[in-house]
Amino acid sequence: MKSELNMMKSISVVVFLLLSFCVQSFAQNNQSALLPLPNFIKSDKSGAVFSISEKTKIVSSSQELNFAVLELQNSFKKRMNIVLESVLGKAQNNQSIELIIDPSIKGNEHYTLSISSKKIVIKGSTAEAILYAVMTLDQILLGDVVNTAQKKIASIFIDDTPRFAWRSIMLDPARNFLPVKDVKFFIDQMVRYKYNVLQMHLTDDEGWRMEIKSHPELTKLGAVRNLKKGMNGPENGFYTQIELKDLIQYAAKRNIQIVPEIDIPGHTASVLAAYPELGCSNAAPIVLGKSNNVMLCAANNKVYDLYRDIIKEIAGIFPSKYIHLGGDESAIEKNWAECSHDKSLMNRLNYKQPTQIMNYFFEKIFSYVRENKKQSILWLELDNIRMPAKEYLFNYPKDVTLITWRYGLTPLCLNLTYQHGNPIIMSPGEYAYFDYPQRKGDLPELNNWGMPITTLQDVIKFDPGYGKPPAEQAHIMGVNATLWGEAIPSIHRATYMAFPRALAFAEAGWTQMKSRNENQIIERIYPNLMNLMQEGVWVSTPFEYK
Ligand code: ACM
Repeated sequence: MKSELNMMKSISVVVFLLLSFCVQSFAQNNQSALLPLPNFIKSDKSGAVFSISEKTKIVSSSQELNFAVLELQNSFKKRMNIVLESVLGKAQNNQSIELIIDPSIKGNEHYTLSISSKKIVIKGSTAEAILYAVMTLDQILLGDVVNTAQKKIASIFIDDTPRFAWRSIMLDPARNFLPVKDVKFFIDQMVRYKYNVLQMHLTDDEGWRMEIKSHPELTKLGAVRNLKKGMNGPENGFYTQIELKDLIQYAAKRNIQIVPEIDIPGHTASVLAAYPELGCSNAAPIVLGKSNNVMLCAANNKVYDLYRDIIKEIAGIFPSKYIHLGGDESAIEKNWAECSHDKSLMNRLNYKQPTQIMNYFFEKIFSYVRENKKQSILWLELDNIRMPAKEYLFNYPKDVTLITWRYGLTPLCLNLTYQHGNPIIMSPGEYAYFDYPQRKGDLPELNNWGMPITTLQDVIKFDPGYGKPPAEQAHIMGVNATLWGEAIPSIHRATYMAFPRALAFAEAGWTQMKSRNENQIIERIYPNLMNLMQEGVWVSTPFEYK
């Protein structure tokens, strides 16, 4: 770990110098670091500037804005080395930067940012929207290096609201545990780029990572790391409920909701390590770190008792409206199709195929989610894992949100969800899987099962609406990028895999297609990569790729 860090530090210095050189070849102005690009910009070519001085005050209309004010102060300290005083109330003179909650602005992430020679005014109907304006203002200072060096900010008007309400990244502490402080560090980067959901994949074959007070065996016996040869990650671990609540609050301040994922009925070796009696009749004994493709037995009522308890506790910890239940990669042919109990269940229910048992299984689980006033999310599986796939794997109820993910199947999934009326989140393997290498020969060097390459250019081209008419896009809730953890042993590796692709992906989630420009985004990526490096974030650098 330490040598990995030292190596990365030296690489960062070299890359930083190279990057500084590259950046000089681009024009630098108040729009050259805006990312995601705002949806409406009125440029001002007059040369008018707002001058920052010791007299400039930040004036905020409500204590709700304290966090946004703090972030703004940090931005001025970092970019202009100036400490700005903040006061509550209404601006008394023209030397102010005003932050105003304005309920007449529609949309809870919608903000306006107006910079003139007299004052700066930020408006939004929520503290979240105003925080986003602060992030945009920080990028104005980052991009416009000459003005910023002279403590000036060029005049501009921005009116910005996101294309999609759901802009998510998934971390996978189940495979390689990520301590709370590391997840917070990741959240710090997400908010800069206006991501608003962190999906946490909390359970899988390799580990159960969340304290469940009614079933402590899960973390005693289930929280075991899959120690593969050559991996060098953190120790075994799990999050206590107190830690999770702290993390949730930290994220919420930054307009990020944390969505918990507990993967069922497959990906459950860690559950079966704690409760072997919940497995199928044909299951071999669980060997932690080795067993996969096992499933919970759908015919065993104790499975439902356990998950009813688990879902109740999760609902009490996470304020998110959503609980993600996995539902992916269930090896039904090896488990339910061969298990004497599941075979009897299938006959009793008059099902023709073992896949239909998913209806029975999830009907029960969905009811526990509903009784806790939450909504379910599932990875979307079709009746085949690649073409020719035709239909849903089973009858997903309409209140279930589906995430499309399998390589090449998203156009079909988009049509099917439109026809069936399920909301969809776009996480297609070919654009959104940041655990895949960004170029030939790049990481991951371990645990790489032959992952396809997803380049920055691929992600830049991603249109989550797939060019469909508006009516056929209306059910798209947004986008989700994944960082599956089998080959991601540390948060540094997670950010290396994420950036710069997560910058382009943020723009795909936020910015309307008509404002996006495939050639020009790269110029805005450079100063942001430089800034991330200054913050100590591992990144990959796209100019090395050629
Ligand atoms: C997945 O990648 N198994 C959803």
